[in-house]
Amino acid sequence: MAYRGKCVFLALLTVCCLLLSKLEATPNSEAEAEALLRWKETLENQTSLRSWTWPVPLKINKNVTTGPCTWFGIACNMAGSVTEINLPNAQLRGNLSSLDFSSLPNLISLNLNHSIITGPIPSQIGTLSRLTHLNLSMNFLSGNLPLSLTNLTNLSLLYLGNNLISGELDPRLFTNWTRLEYLELQNNNFTGVLPPEIGLLTNLKELALMDNRFSGSIPFEIGNLKNLDVLALSGNHLTGPIPPSLGNLSKLTILFLQQNNLSGPFPQLSGSVPEGLANLSSLKILNLGDNKFSGHLPPLCLGSRLQTFTASSNNFSGPIPKGLRNCESLVRLSIKKNQLTGTLDQDLGVYPNLGYLDLSYNNLNGVLSYNWVGCRQLTSLKLAGNKITGEIPSQVPPEIGGLSHLEELDFSANGLSGQIPEQFGDCSKLRNLYLSKNYFNMSIPSKIGNLAMLGSLDLSQNVLTGEIPFQLGNLIMLEHLNLSHNNLSGAIPSSFRQMTGLTTIDLSYNELEGPLPDNELFRRAPLSAFSKNKDLCGKVQGLRLCNVTSPENGTSPENGAQSKERKVFVIVGTLSVNHQIMEIYSQLNFDGKIVYEDIIDATNGFNDNYYIGVGGSGRVYKAEMPTGHALAIKIIQCLEGEEIDKIKTSQNEIRVLTEIRHRNIVKFYGFCSQGPHKFLVYDYIERGSLASILSNDKEAQELGWSKRVDIVRGIANALSYMHHDCSPPIIHRDISSKNVLLNSELEACISDFGTARIMKTDSSNWTLVAGTYGYIAPELAYTMRATEKCDVYSFGVLALEVIMGEHPKELLSSLSIGEKSIEVMEVLDLRPPPPAVLFEKQVASVVKQALSCLSIRPNSRPTMQWVSQAIMEA
Ligand SMILES: *[C@@H]1O[C@H](CO)[C@@H](O)[C@H](O)[C@H]1NC(C)=O
Ligand SMILES: *[C@@H]1O[C@H](CO)[C@@H](O)[C@H](O)[C@H]1NC(C)=O
Ligand SMILES: *[C@@H]1O[C@H](CO)[C@@H](O)[C@H](O)[C@H]1NC(C)=O
Ligand SMILES: *[C@@H]1O[C@H](CO)[C@@H](O)[C@H](O)[C@H]1NC(C)=O
Ligand SMILES: *[C@@H]1O[C@H](CO)[C@@H](O)[C@H](O)[C@H]1NC(C)=O
Repeated sequence: MAYRGKCVFLALLTVCCLLLSKLEATPNSEAEAEALLRWKETLENQTSLRSWTWPVPLKINKNVTTGPCTWFGIACNMAGSVTEINLPNAQLRGNLSSLDFSSLPNLISLNLNHSIITGPIPSQIGTLSRLTHLNLSMNFLSGNLPLSLTNLTNLSLLYLGNNLISGELDPRLFTNWTRLEYLELQNNNFTGVLPPEIGLLTNLKELALMDNRFSGSIPFEIGNLKNLDVLALSGNHLTGPIPPSLGNLSKLTILFLQQNNLSGPFPQLSGSVPEGLANLSSLKILNLGDNKFSGHLPPLCLGSRLQTFTASSNNFSGPIPKGLRNCESLVRLSIKKNQLTGTLDQDLGVYPNLGYLDLSYNNLNGVLSYNWVGCRQLTSLKLAGNKITGEIPSQVPPEIGGLSHLEELDFSANGLSGQIPEQFGDCSKLRNLYLSKNYFNMSIPSKIGNLAMLGSLDLSQNVLTGEIPFQLGNLIMLEHLNLSHNNLSGAIPSSFRQMTGLTTIDLSYNELEGPLPDNELFRRAPLSAFSKNKDLCGKVQGLRLCNVTSPENGTSPENGAQSKERKVFVIVGTLSVNHQIMEIYSQLNFDGKIVYEDIIDATNGFNDNYYIGVGGSGRVYKAEMPTGHALAIKIIQCLEGEEIDKIKTSQNEIRVLTEIRHRNIVKFYGFCSQGPHKFLVYDYIERGSLASILSNDKEAQELGWSKRVDIVRGIANALSYMHHDCSPPIIHRDISSKNVLLNSELEACISDFGTARIMKTDSSNWTLVAGTYGYIAPELAYTMRATEKCDVYSFGVLALEVIMGEHPKELLSSLSIGEKSIEVMEVLDLRPPPPAVLFEKQVASVVKQALSCLSIRPNSRPTMQWVSQAIMEA
């Protein structure tokens, strides 16, 4: 919003400037134009500066016809003098030494963010006495900071992050920057200490000095920066304690001190009244990880808003602090790799919002009396490497099966014993289950085979006995399986052939016998995966070949052929079902039959004049009903020769879909299969599909960054709702820019939710593949099994498309071959004006989440709930 406002404001200014400049040309204009053009000539890449033309017919009969004020990226004041050079992401290649700053006395804002500017920041920059915004981040600037920067007394924003600037921070720099609010110097080569004079910047809201080589201690004077919202000192060589004065920063929301050599206890914790850091009442994120802090953990959460607390890899000792009990807001807590002692605190169970808890590698002991029941939102629970004993509670609270959101559980390397509770089978979202290096005995519960999302299962180094349950073969998403170092007996279940996703397996050191299942993985696995068993056989070098007549023989050609017989069905059209018109139409206050006829009337029998496009699977028409209500009618095409009643859809399912109400989902009224026309009935959404808007340059230009981020948020919200708030969850299966419509406010509405459901063949999980080429999750090619994670993948593609303005195509293939990151600024759609600083973070967050959704491995993709939250918080 702020950005739009600014846009309008600038545009007005430019107009005024043009009008006025016709009346009076300022003596400066010529010099300004010359300075800019001379600089332009030194730049290697000038494509974005095409409008900067020479010669400038500045004064012709006292008329000013053109001038720098009309040039791309330039703004002027009323008098026609240049006030802004705004060229972020312009890919300019050159340096600043040839830009004559003294000719630009009225410059207020200079933004060359993300180009290829090299060399030092010239000392002459100090002549820009009116400058309030200086953004040179993400370039290749080197050398020291010129001391003349201190003359920029009006600066409110100074971004020099992500460059190659070196040297120490001269204390004199800070003496005049009393208006400075944002200071970013991160990711440079700065050395030396943090001068106490930083404390003079009392208006500072953001101080980002992370990822440099600063040494020495954190100056006490930082406590004077009472307006500080973000303080990031991580990734330096800072030593010594945290100054107690930090406790004065009551507006601080983010404190990053991780990856330094800071030490000492937390300040002011010895007294009976917890003070000091406990007063950081606005703090939301605190990261102290990878330091040398010692002593007891502070009771950080007294009435606080803390959401994320990381203190991992330090020397904290003592118990898990009691004071944490008031952390209603706590979502993420990691204290792994410290020396915490004592038992697991019952109180931990009272965090209603805790999603991530990692207390691994401490010296915690006692039994699992920990009250999980209160932590319904837990997605990760990690207690590995402690001394916890006893059994995992399974029957009465805190029973493990109650943790229905759990995606990751790591209890490995403790002293746990007894049976592995079959209730793990109820944690249906589990992706990683690690119970190795304990004393679990008896057999592996077959219900583990219910964990359809499981990607890693490690039960090694226990005393498990009995046979490996056949049901484990149902874990077709499994990638890593380790059952080694137990006392498992019998044969490897033939069902293991189905686990085509497995990349590592270890069954060594057991009492197994019989043939290895025949699939690629088993053929390629090293002998060490099967060694030290009773009598395994198969085509692995070092094992004996099996007796070919054995009925159990997994290597027989027949079985091999069968296992490859999976087919991928691709449905091109949508199929309809024999149904009467349903009472669903009652929502439109019509009797079904009349609606049918009204629709035929309103579209003049599906005349081309009412045709509005092809959506997902068929032609779409607009029907203006007698009540004034506009509907979108999607015609269902039957595949040639396809029998209509082959596909069964229960009326119940249709009703479920019509009852969905979400602002980001197109209202579905029902399904009409009577008469010669079969169609689906939706609300009509004014602006049409996202695909068509993005393919139209004019409309795409108007679709600014705040709108785009909102669109992605809307889509994420809708998917999260369908996946996590509907029971049973509803998978879309065909998320693409054609299926996202925009209403008059340019808000996203997903259409066609449930079409996939209507097409569902039966109640099994094996389903027909729907979907749009370019958005289909790679695993669908071989599993045929549509899960929520397929939607997550398609969402990733779509989110990138919104940011890039086009389908990410080749980028997807570069990601699939392991490229982990992309430069956000390099992929941005160039049609709208570049995002304001305010939106850069949000756009970056969308890209980051999109990339995590595009993981080739379904299990590595986050849930839509997670994605939607992460994008909201950016
Ligand atoms: C100067 O401006 C006037 C009014 O805007 C216009 O009529 C005239 O043609 C201009 N002269 C030149 C040489 O462009
Ligand atoms: C800041 O905190 C310290 C120690 O907690 C205190 O002594 C000092 O008076 C505070 N300074 C201000 C300016 O509030
Ligand atoms: C902490 O907050 C309390 C209550 O707001 C206040 O009385 C106390 O002085 C504060 N302590 C510090 C060190 O700022
Ligand atoms: C399986 O677990 C054992 C013991 O925990 C470990 O030594 C071994 O390396 C693991 N195997 C694989 C393939 O990771
Ligand atoms: C392993 O299991 C067998 C029975 O299958 C049992 O006789 C043996 O004692 C077990 N060994 C250990 C070390 O538990």
